[in-house]
Amino acid sequence: MIRICMVGTGYVGLVSGACMADFGHRVTCVDINQERIDSLVRGGIPFYEPGLDRLVLKNVEEERLFFTTSLAEGIHQADVVFIAVQTPMSKTGEADLQFVMKVGEEIGALLDDYKVIVTKSTVPVGTNRKLKQVIQSKLKKPVDFDMASNPEFLREGSSIEDFMRPDRVVIGVETPRSEELMREIYRPLYLLDTPMVRTGIETAELVKYASNSFLAVKISFINEIARLAEAVGADVSDVAKAMGLDKRIGSKFLHAGLGFGGSCLPKDTNAIVHIAQEAGTEMRTVKAAIGVNEALPERALAKAERLTGGLEGKTVGLLGLAFKPNTDDIRSAASIPLVDGLLARGCRIQAHDPAAVPNFKQFYPDLEYCKSPYHACQDADIAILVTEWNQYRQLDLGNLREIMAGNAFLDCRNVYDRPHLEKYGFLYDCFGRAAHTSDV
Ligand SMILES: NC(=O)c1ccc[n+]([C@@H]2O[C@H](COP(=O)([O-])OP(=O)(O)OC[C@H]3O[C@@H](n4cnc5c(N)ncnc54)[C@H](O)[C@@H]3O)[C@@H](O)[C@H]2O)c1
Repeated sequence: MIRICMVGTGYVGLVSGACMADFGHRVTCVDINQERIDSLVRGGIPFYEPGLDRLVLKNVEEERLFFTTSLAEGIHQADVVFIAVQTPMSKTGEADLQFVMKVGEEIGALLDDYKVIVTKSTVPVGTNRKLKQVIQSKLKKPVDFDMASNPEFLREGSSIEDFMRPDRVVIGVETPRSEELMREIYRPLYLLDTPMVRTGIETAELVKYASNSFLAVKISFINEIARLAEAVGADVSDVAKAMGLDKRIGSKFLHAGLGFGGSCLPKDTNAIVHIAQEAGTEMRTVKAAIGVNEALPERALAKAERLTGGLEGKTVGLLGLAFKPNTDDIRSAASIPLVDGLLARGCRIQAHDPAAVPNFKQFYPDLEYCKSPYHACQDADIAILVTEWNQYRQLDLGNLREIMAGNAFLDCRNVYDRPHLEKYGFLYDCFGRAAHTSDV
């Protein structure tokens, strides 16, 4: 059993902490957000994540998982300290490291015996070295400690499964002692034959950015093929299916639509562009992927204009606000530029999302939020499917068509088939499968 301190109880910190406790370790989760910690102590989960409530409860009851706002309490009981605080995108595009560095200063001031300090937050190459200096500068007495990089690859919405059954675990370490502790933490995964990639620290830092950037490039690539498919009368879904069957390519992340959003891909692609710039080189493919992605909401708006004969003053039934299904996260969600564009055109927006409404409301208090997709589409001129939640995949289309004022349906995630929708009298458009009725 390893004693772990997890700093930050966001998506990554809380899921990692709960899973590590479930592996059998003793985990103390620390957060500066008093309200969040109070709620966790009472059994409340601060965000929507399937299965997390049960996992947290089980490990709290079995006395392996603890919550506190006191970093001192967390650190003094730990062999390994994970930093899992946010690294948001700054105004200029690079990763904002103020939260990570602040934790580093605090750790330095509290360190009194050997520990491994691990960055789980996604941090630019070189951050661990800088963090080590920050910690050293705050030490009250000479203390031996090691740095390690252990990037996290979990996906919101399926994070527990991702953490418990990862494709690989990457550990960037510098000493045998820290390697041994890191391997011990993940030992339960050896039974599943999970590949453990042991690297140097800079390499581990880069693996995370390279992986996310590759996924972003893949998504933007298929979105470019979608545009081409529309222009030449091909179907991007069939193209993607056939491409994906090639084992060298793979079928994942080949879905045309509104592109990538969320708290990772947009910020990590921008960050790697900056990392490359600072290193005197360039990430041309990633820059292109960002450009393709950023243009997609505008494309959706142009399609909606065309379907409705002009959006000015129209009522829009918006289905989905979260950046993807099974999460309430709206960070860099495509719904945001879409809503901005619709509001700029004087549209009335009736929105529905199974989980993300409270988060969206904080930024857009004046939209009309509805309790079901049908309420959202009541008297609407157009329905726009933004997030492919399961409950939007089997809509009662006859009912929908009847309650709507108009007959336009924009399917931004290619969930439905054109002939099926047309059978119900809808004027339908989607991305990359629309050669006959769309030339946008
Ligand atoms: N969200 C994901 O799907 C995901 C996946 C892989 C990697 N990551 C990376 O993991 C990191 C964390 O992401 P997240 O989505 O969990 O962030 P988050 O914003 O959900 O959570 C961060 C938490 O850290 C806390 N915090 C900030 N400063 C603190 C301090 N000084 N002491 C204690 N707690 C502090 C905040 O209060 C918050 O609860 C980021 O670098 C992100 O890029 C995220």
